[in-house]
Amino acid sequence: MLFGKIIVVTGVASGIGQRTAELAAHMGADVIGIDVVKPSHSIGTFLQGDISTQAGVDEIVNALPDGIDALCNVAGVSGAGGAALTLAINFFGLKALSEGLANKIRTGGSIINVASMAGYGWRENTQRASAMAKLSGFPEPSKLMEDFAIPNELGYPISKEILLVWTMLAAHQPMFKSRNIRVNAVSPGPVETPILTQFRQVLGDQRVNSDVDRVGRAGTPADIAPVILFLCSDAARWVNGNNIAADGGLEASVTVEALGLSKT
Ligand SMILES: NC(=O)c1ccc[n+]([C@@H]2O[C@H](COP(=O)([O-])OP(=O)(O)OC[C@H]3O[C@@H](n4cnc5c(N)ncnc54)[C@H](O)[C@@H]3O)[C@@H](O)[C@H]2O)c1
Repeated sequence: MLFGKIIVVTGVASGIGQRTAELAAHMGADVIGIDVVKPSHSIGTFLQGDISTQAGVDEIVNALPDGIDALCNVAGVSGAGGAALTLAINFFGLKALSEGLANKIRTGGSIINVASMAGYGWRENTQRASAMAKLSGFPEPSKLMEDFAIPNELGYPISKEILLVWTMLAAHQPMFKSRNIRVNAVSPGPVETPILTQFRQVLGDQRVNSDVDRVGRAGTPADIAPVILFLCSDAARWVNGNNIAADGGLEASVTVEALGLSKT
C-alpha cells in the first residue's frame, strides 16, 4: 500500500510516531522522521527539528524534499509544560508545518493529524475552537491566553479541540483542496507511551484507569500506527476531513452511557 511513497513522520523518536515510521518503512515507504529529540534507533532519514516556533518549522520545511506523499503529524506534548507551549506544539506548529509543506506534498497526497479523544469537547466549544483554528502563524502567547481565557491546565484538551476543528476546515482549505490533498485525524484513547505517564500525573490515575477499564487494556503504538498509515494510503482516497477513533471502543462506550442508548 505504501511502496515507494515518501512519508514524513513527526514525533519519530518515541511512541506512536516511532511505530508509525517503523511500520511505514516495513511496508516499503521512504520515511523521513522528524523530532526535537534524536532517536536512539534509525528509521529512514532523520531530521532533528523543533515545531514549537516559526523558525523551527521554517528550518524543517526548507530541509524537506518535494514530492512528499504523506505528512503524519504525530509529535505532541501532554500539557505538563503549560498551555502556551502545548498549544504551540500540538496545534500552531503542526498547522504551520502542514501549510508550509503544502507545495511540497504531491497532488493527491495526504495529511494525518494525531488528535485525541481529549479533544471531543470541541462541540461544546465551537466558537473558541473555530476562532483559534483560523489564527495564522504563532500568536503571541500571553495575548492568546487572555483573548481566549485559556486556563493553563486545559492547554492539552483545547489544543486537540482546535486540531479536530482545523482538520475539517483544512480539508476544504484551497491550498490543500485545490490539489486533492486529503486532511484527516486519528484520535487514540489511552496508549502506553511516555506521554501516558504524564497524563496520569496531570489527570490522575483514577481517570486514566477508568478509561482503560472500559475497554480492557490501554492501546499500544502498534494499535494506532496502521490506522495512520491507512489514511496515508490510496485505499483512503475518498476519506477526507474525517476523524477516526482508534480507542478499542472507548468513545462508543462513553457515548452509549451518556445518551442512554442501551436502555430499552
Ligand atoms: N499516548 C496516549 O495516550 C495518547 C492519547 C491520545 C493522543 N495522543 C497523541 O499522540 C501523539 C504522539 O504521542 P505519543 O503517545 O507517541 O507520545 P510520546 O511522548 O511517546 O512521543 C511524542 C514525541 O513528540 C516529540 N516532540 C515533542 N515536542 C516536539 C517538538 N517541539 N518538535 C518536534 N517533536 C516534538 C517528542 O520528542 C516525542 O518523541 C501526540 O500528539 C499525543 O497527543 C497520545
